[in-house]
Amino acid sequence: MNEHTSNPPRFTTSRRSFLMASSIGAVAGSLGIARTAHAAGSDAIKIALIGCGGRGTGAAINALNACPNTRLVALADAFQARVDISLKSILAQPCADRVDIPGNWQFVGLDSYQPAIESDVDMVLLCSPPGFRPIQYEAAVAAGKHVFMEKPLATDAPGLRRILAANNLAKEKGLLVAVGHHLRHEDRYRELVQRIHDGAIGKLMLMRAYFNTHNLWVRPRKPGQSEMEYQVQNWYYFTWLSGDHIVEQHVHDIDICNWIHGGHPVSAQGMGGRQVRIGKEYGDIFDHHAVEFTYPDGVKMYSYCRQTPGCWTSFSQHAHGTKGSARLDGEGTAELSIDGEPSKRWDRGKDGHQVEMDDLFAAYIGGRPTNEVDATADGTMTAILGRMATYSGKEVSWDDAFHSNLDLAPETLTWDAKPRVLPDEKGYYPCAVPGVTQAW
Ligand SMILES: NC(=O)c1ccc[n+]([C@@H]2O[C@H](COP(=O)([O-])OP(=O)(O)OC[C@H]3O[C@@H](n4cnc5c(N)ncnc54)[C@H](O)[C@@H]3O)[C@@H](O)[C@H]2O)c1
Repeated sequence: MNEHTSNPPRFTTSRRSFLMASSIGAVAGSLGIARTAHAAGSDAIKIALIGCGGRGTGAAINALNACPNTRLVALADAFQARVDISLKSILAQPCADRVDIPGNWQFVGLDSYQPAIESDVDMVLLCSPPGFRPIQYEAAVAAGKHVFMEKPLATDAPGLRRILAANNLAKEKGLLVAVGHHLRHEDRYRELVQRIHDGAIGKLMLMRAYFNTHNLWVRPRKPGQSEMEYQVQNWYYFTWLSGDHIVEQHVHDIDICNWIHGGHPVSAQGMGGRQVRIGKEYGDIFDHHAVEFTYPDGVKMYSYCRQTPGCWTSFSQHAHGTKGSARLDGEGTAELSIDGEPSKRWDRGKDGHQVEMDDLFAAYIGGRPTNEVDATADGTMTAILGRMATYSGKEVSWDDAFHSNLDLAPETLTWDAKPRVLPDEKGYYPCAVPGVTQAW
C-alpha cells in the first residue's frame, strides 16, 4: 500500500483563506463569530496562556501588544518553575499593567490546561509541546473558547484527525482559531506567494525547503523524576511529544511549499538518521532528514532539515518555475528572479509573530471569522508523512500516512504513566531503523 495515489484525501478547504486579513472581511457579515461576554466592544478580552515556555511567553506578550483590550489572567504549565519564569518575563514588559493573574489562576501539572480553559477566559493560547495539542484543542473547543495555537498541530496522524474533527466543531461554534505559522503573515511572504500564484515564475516545476540549524537545549535528568516527567521536560527529543524536528521545526518550510503549490504531496521517500547527536540525552529523534515529496502534478519538493553544530545553516524555501525562481528566507529577505529581468528583493518587515496576533485580534474586535486550521493542517500532515518516509526508509503514500492508526501517545497522561518509548538498561532510547521500522 505504498503506491502513489491519484485521489488523495484533501482537507484543505481554502488554502489561501487566511492569508490576507482583508479577505476575511468579505465573509464577516454572513458568518459572525461566537460572542463571548467581551467580544462586542471595548471590554477586556481575557486570555489564558497554556504552556509557559519560550514561545508561549512570546505569544502572550504578542497578544498583549496586539490589542489594548487584552488581559492575561491565567497561566498553566506542567511545571511551576516555568510559570514563574514566564510571569517574570511578561511582567518586565511595558504591557505588564494588563497582566492580572489571581493567585489561584496559576495552574500546574499535565492536566493544568483543563482548569485554565474552564476559567473565565475568552481565548486560550495553546503553546505546550505539540503532542498535547489535540487533547488541549478538543478541550478548548468543547468549552467554546477562541484559540491561538502553535504549530505543529499534532505529532501523528490520529492526533491530526482529532484536530480536524475538533475543528469542525470550532467552525460550527464560530470560534476564532489561529495557528502559529507566522511566516504566512509576513508581508514579503504574502507578496511573493501571491506573485507566484499569479504566474510570475511560470509553471511551477520544483521546490526546495531547508531548516538546517544547530543543536537546541537539553534539560538534564533530575534525581527522583519519573520517566514521564523527564520526557515532558525534554519533550523536544521524543517523537511522541515533538514529532521529531522534521515536524516540530521544518513544518514551517513544508507549510510554505504547500502554500506555494496550492496542495499537498501524494507521496514521499527519504532518508535520515542520527549521526552526531547520538547521546542518551537526545531521546529517540533523528538529527537529520532529507525527503523527496511528490505532488499530484509531478512537482517535487526536496526537503532537508538538520540539527548539527558546525554545518551549513539555512531556514529558507525556494520555488523554481519555467520563467524564473523565488527565494524566501525565514529570517531574512525574499527575492524574485525572472529570466531576463533584474531580480527584485524584499526586506523582512515586521515580525510575523506579532502580525499574526495583530491579525487575530483585528478579526476578534471586528467580529470577523477566521480559522487557520484547514489551511495549515496539511503542512503538519506532510511533515508527518516525511518522518514516516525517513523512519521507514520506504516510499509512503499520503493515503497510508493520513489513515495511519499509529498513535504515539501513552494511553494515560499522568506523571506515573509509562511512555511507549523507554530507555534500555544503559539509558539509551530505541530509535527508528530505516528498512526495519514500521513508521505508519
Ligand atoms: N512559531 C514559531 O516560530 C515557534 C517558535 C518556537 C516554538 N514554537 C512552538 O511552540 C511550542 C512550544 O515551544 P517552546 O519553544 O516554547 O518550548 P518550551 O519548552 O520553551 O515550552 C513548552 C512549555 O510547555 C510546558 N508543558 C509541557 N507539557 C505541558 C502540558 N501538558 N500542559 C501545559 N504545559 C506543558 C513545558 O513545561 C514548557 O514550559 C511548540 O509547539 C513549538 O513547535 C513555535
